[in-house]
Amino acid sequence: MQFNMIKKEQLYEGKAKIIYATEQPEEVVVYFKDDATAFNAQKRGSFADKGEMNNAITVLIYEYLEKQGIPTHFIQKLNEREQLVRKVEIIPIEFVTRNYVAGSMAQRLGLEEGIKCENTVYDICYKKDELGDPLINDDHAVLLGLATYEELIDMYDFTATINDLLIELFDEAGLILADFKIELGITSDNELVLADEISPDTCRLWDKETGEKLDKDRFRRDLGGVSEAYHEVHNRLKKVLESK
Ligand code: TMP
Repeated sequence: MQFNMIKKEQLYEGKAKIIYATEQPEEVVVYFKDDATAFNAQKRGSFADKGEMNNAITVLIYEYLEKQGIPTHFIQKLNEREQLVRKVEIIPIEFVTRNYVAGSMAQRLGLEEGIKCENTVYDICYKKDELGDPLINDDHAVLLGLATYEELIDMYDFTATINDLLIELFDEAGLILADFKIELGITSDNELVLADEISPDTCRLWDKETGEKLDKDRFRRDLGGVSEAYHEVHNRLKKVLESK
């Protein structure tokens, strides 16, 4: 692959991805691993094609969002497991959007999983592994110096726009977007962009007809058929986007 030629030293290794420098100071390579973790890495494993599927799904979604006017860090797919992206400073906040009750919110609030939220719920978490990425509020984020109140308003707006676009896209693929997490970054020229990945690792996706879970909950909850679920999401998205 000609693009592998530009890959240089490893800059960072996370739980599911590795970031490499390139000859261009403003561009980095993201490598998607097959490793999976859950519950702040207390549960570990890996499954077939995870890296390839998350790379491919993220590429499809980011290309789609770019077309809809959402600025992202994405530049181009390099190969099955790698993509070239703009180097950004990741804002250490996870923006979680919930359209349906599920996961940690169901537990925290004693609600039944699967109920549609009357109002969209936005949670923010402080990205800090040592603390287990705790849920925080806007005042905490400002206190920690992660963002100003004005910046938070812009970031919630950005998140809401992405939610609207993703709900529609997944709906066309026969999937309910129950909830998802995104990460935002700042480029060297101070632009706020969507960074990281959007994949079945970072979304809860339920089949519209059967309610079947087609996301990382299959791994978290030992439901089996994890790799098949990721392939299914990829196939459905590909079909929808090819027809556009
Ligand atoms: P939660 O129910 O565990 O709070 O997760 C909400 C959504 O955020 C779900 O779609 C999975 C995603 N998520 C991540 O992408 N990374 C994480 O570390 C966590 C905890 C959740």
